[in-house]
Amino acid sequence: MKKKLFIKTYGCQMNVYDSGRMADVLAPLGYEPTDAPEGADMVILNTCHIREKAAEKVYSELGRIRQLQKDKASDGGRMVVAVAGCVAQAEGAEIMVRAPHVDMVFGPQTYHQLPEMVARAVRGTGGVVNTDFPVESKFDLLPEESAAPAGPAAFLSVQEGCDKFCTFCVVPYTRGAEFSRPVAQVIAEAKRLAAAGVREFTLLGQNVNAYHGEAQDGTVWGLGRLIRGLAELEGVERIRYTTSHPRDMDDDLIAAHGEVPQLMPFVHLPVQSGSDRILAAMNRKHTADDYRRIVERMRAARPDLALSSDFIVGFPGESDQDFADTLRLVTDIGFAQAYSFKYSARPGTPAAGMDGRQVPEAVKDERLQALQQLLNAQQVGFNESSVGQVQDVLLDRVGKKAGQLLGRGPYMQSVHLIAPERLLGSVAPVRITAAFANSLTGEVVTLDDHAADAAAGTEEVRV
Ligand code: SAH
Ligand code: SF4
Ligand code: F3S
Repeated sequence: MKKKLFIKTYGCQMNVYDSGRMADVLAPLGYEPTDAPEGADMVILNTCHIREKAAEKVYSELGRIRQLQKDKASDGGRMVVAVAGCVAQAEGAEIMVRAPHVDMVFGPQTYHQLPEMVARAVRGTGGVVNTDFPVESKFDLLPEESAAPAGPAAFLSVQEGCDKFCTFCVVPYTRGAEFSRPVAQVIAEAKRLAAAGVREFTLLGQNVNAYHGEAQDGTVWGLGRLIRGLAELEGVERIRYTTSHPRDMDDDLIAAHGEVPQLMPFVHLPVQSGSDRILAAMNRKHTADDYRRIVERMRAARPDLALSSDFIVGFPGESDQDFADTLRLVTDIGFAQAYSFKYSARPGTPAAGMDGRQVPEAVKDERLQALQQLLNAQQVGFNESSVGQVQDVLLDRVGKKAGQLLGRGPYMQSVHLIAPERLLGSVAPVRITAAFANSLTGEVVTLDDHAADAAAGTEEVRV
């Protein structure tokens, strides 16, 4: 009999990718994904440890799940409850002390061992904790994707882990050492996804541009080379990558932005701060000017390149002047969108121990608000500058309104339009008609429009 599997995913795209692969591992055991935890035979919370709030959410969710597990038991069933991902890796057996109804705790590098873990958990001889960093790579042992891709845009994990040890960050501890998948493995997965209808590939890694995968002839490919290789495959219409680090933005990757038409003109490049003093304390190993120069080089290769970033405000010791330097960097660069966070002290990281230098919560709040105001204004300005352009939009979802499709333009803006459903899954030319804070509206450019434009002698701006 089929069993129901509910997976709730927190955190970054890497976790989204992992959740999909967990479902692939569990499919041969008879587990089928379901949309709600009620009545499920297995519930997996795939968790994030990046900030305190993210980690705490897991425990409140576990409280809710406990009731559902009891309901299932009173119906004579059994709900296996698992905590996976980065909280699992960081807290391990602690989780079972706080939440004894949890059956399995496993980290991001061991989920290929789920069949054995499930067998042990179901036998009921106590909880299973599996937070090793095994010598084998999960990628060598995972089955091929069992489910059809969810749409025409898919994530493809190419690199994992991080050796950079920024002083605020848990990722090197939860994801482990940096590792690149071999080229042939990435290409094979991309071919399967393309054959299943995927058109846009987002290459994933905690430090995706640190990619250094071994090719079959023994040479080592960087991310730029991998992108060029993927661009040659049938059906690969768009390529993106995330998240990259400024230090690994090498010449070949920058050149690829000018040379590979499928590589989209939008890059998420976290900078964290605009103050050299804070960047040094964060162990980022780049200055604010290094970042400015990298962006200049990228824009020289691809003049319409749009950028996104991550910022942390209130890192220990951050002064008003340091924060002003961050605002100045934002003004200099001009971001199409960005994420900003209040510094959150994470257990075991060096910055958490910078005693006496922690910034008061009220100051963090104030700085976050000022930064977000500036970033939001830049985002609105960027969206407004799109009005009147014709953008190639990948129509990947059905909207809430009748006849509405949603998609993404080259610069990752969300575009809403009324269009025939047969266009779902394809890239269509869309004239942008209005801009909002978080989205654009548009209309599909038809052949008639092209003819009219040609007759009137108007030239279309194609981006
Ligand atoms: N690998 C990426 C980002 C990983 S985490 C990089 O190198 O930039 C995603 C974002 O969360 C980070 O860019 C950072 O802005 C934020 N972040 C990480 N640790 C944090 C902490 N302790 N407090 C607040 N924000 C944090
Ligand atoms: Fe964390 Fe820094 Fe590694 Fe990014 S580069 S994952 S912020 S340690
Ligand atoms: Fe969170 Fe782990 Fe990703 S801590 S951001 S889920 S790598």
